[in-house]
Amino acid sequence: MGDNEQVAKLVAGDQEIDLPIMGGSVGPQVIDVSKLYGNTGFFTYDPGFTSTASCESKITYIDGDEGVLLYRGYPIEELAVKSDFPEVSYLLLNGELPNKAEYEQFVHDVTYHTMLHEQMINFYGGFRRDAHPMAIMCGVVGALSAFYHDSTDINDPHQRMVASFRLVAKMPTIAAMAYKYSAGQPFIYPDNSLSYAENFLNMTFSVPAEKYKASPTLSKAMDRIFILHADHEQNASTSTVRLASSSGANPFACIAAGIACLWGPAHGGANEAVLKMLEEVGSVDKIPEFIAKAKDKNDPFRLMGFGHRVYKNYDPRARVMQQTCHEVLGELGITDDPLLDLAMELERIALEDEYFVEKKLYPNVDFYSGIILRAMGFPTSMFTVLFALARTVGWVAQWNEMIEDPMQKIGRPRQLYTGATKRSYVDLDARG
Ligand code: CMC
Repeated sequence: MGDNEQVAKLVAGDQEIDLPIMGGSVGPQVIDVSKLYGNTGFFTYDPGFTSTASCESKITYIDGDEGVLLYRGYPIEELAVKSDFPEVSYLLLNGELPNKAEYEQFVHDVTYHTMLHEQMINFYGGFRRDAHPMAIMCGVVGALSAFYHDSTDINDPHQRMVASFRLVAKMPTIAAMAYKYSAGQPFIYPDNSLSYAENFLNMTFSVPAEKYKASPTLSKAMDRIFILHADHEQNASTSTVRLASSSGANPFACIAAGIACLWGPAHGGANEAVLKMLEEVGSVDKIPEFIAKAKDKNDPFRLMGFGHRVYKNYDPRARVMQQTCHEVLGELGITDDPLLDLAMELERIALEDEYFVEKKLYPNVDFYSGIILRAMGFPTSMFTVLFALARTVGWVAQWNEMIEDPMQKIGRPRQLYTGATKRSYVDLDARG
C-alpha cells in the first residue's frame, strides 16, 4: 500500500489490519476485503449483498437517495425522451453514443439477426398452451446454446459481439412467439423494414388475416419502456448472469439463467404482480385494507411495485412510466381507466402513510408499467417477458464487461457454517 492510499483499519480478534479503500468516479467508496481471508482467516458476512460491491463496472450508476439513474453517465429521463432503444443499446454495449454511421451499422447488424433458426419453432410445440411465457423464454433462450456454435467462444471478442447481436436481435422474436403460441395464433416472422419496437409489436399483434400498424405513439411508448428497463447495475438477474458466466459457461445459457432470476415477484415479476394486486384491490374503498395488510408483519403481503433495495426516493423510471401511461391511454382514447385511478390513489395514500414514509418506500418501475402494457393489449403474463426482452442488452453489456475485466474470477461466495460438526455414520439398525 502506498503512503497516500486511504485505508480502513480493522481490528479482528487480536489482529489489526489495513484494508485498502477504493474510490469510484461517483458513489460510495469501497473497502477492498479480497485479501481479508488470506491475511486474517476471517470471512465477511453480508446476506443479500446489501453492502458488497461484487465487481467494478462502468455501465450504469444509481444514486438511490437522490433517485438518479445514469446509463454510461446519461440520465435516464433524457435518454427516455431523446434517444431510442437501439441507440441506448449501442451506448450500453460500447460506452459512448454512436455517430450516425455507427448507429446505422448497429441497427443493420441487429436487424439482420432477428430470425430464429427454423428448427427452434419445434421447441414451442413441446410446451403446453397454458405455459407461462417466462417458462417458454427460459427454455427457448437456453436452447439457443444448442444452435449458434459459432458464437460461443467467450474469449474471442468477435464471437462475443456476434452472440451479443444475436441475443438482442432474437429476443423480440422469441418473446412474440411465446405470446403467439399461448394465443393459438400462427407465428409472425420478423420484418426488417420496421424499427425494433415496431417489429416486436407487429410480430405480437399482427395476424395473417389482418395487417397491424402500431401508431407512432404506441411504438414510441414500447421503445421507451425498453429503454427504461435496459440496465440497472448489479441487480439480482444481472448478478445471476455474471455469476453463471464467471465459470466460462455458454452465453445463451447464462442469459436463460438471468431470465429465470428475473421471473420472481421481488424482481421483474413485480409488474405482473402489481396488476394482479390492483385487480384484487378492486376499488378505492378497499385500499386501506391492503395498506394495513402490507404493514402487518405477520402477513407476507407486500405492496407490489413499491420499495427498492437501492432507491430510497422515487424511482426515476416510475416517473417516466407514469407520464407514458397518460400518453398511451390518451392515444387509445381511454379517458377513464379504473385501474390507473386505483393505482394513483394507492400511491397517494401510501406516500402519506407513516410506515411507507419512514421506510422510504416509493413506487418503482413496475408500478405503472403494467397499466400501460395492459392498455396496449398485452396479457398480464407477458409483462415480465417484456422486461426480459429489454434487460437482455444490459445483461449482455455486463457479461462482456466481466469477461474483459482482468480481475475477473469464478464467483464463489463463502459461508458461515452453522450445521453439524464432524460426526460418525450410525448404521440404520442402530438408530433410535
Ligand atoms: N410493502 C410493504 N413493506 C415493504 C415493501 C412493500 N412493497 N417493501 C419493503 N417493505 C418493508 C419491509 O418489510 C422491511 O420492513 P422492516 O425493516 O420492518 O423489516 C423494509 O421495508 C425494508 O425492506 P426489505 O425487504 O429489507 O428491503 P429489500 O431491499 O430487501 O427489498 C424489494 C427490496 C424490492 C424486494 C422490496 O421492497 C419488495 O418486495 N417490493 C415489492 C416487490 C417489487 O415491487 N419489486 C420490484 C422491484 S423494482 C424492479 C426490479 O428490480 O425488478
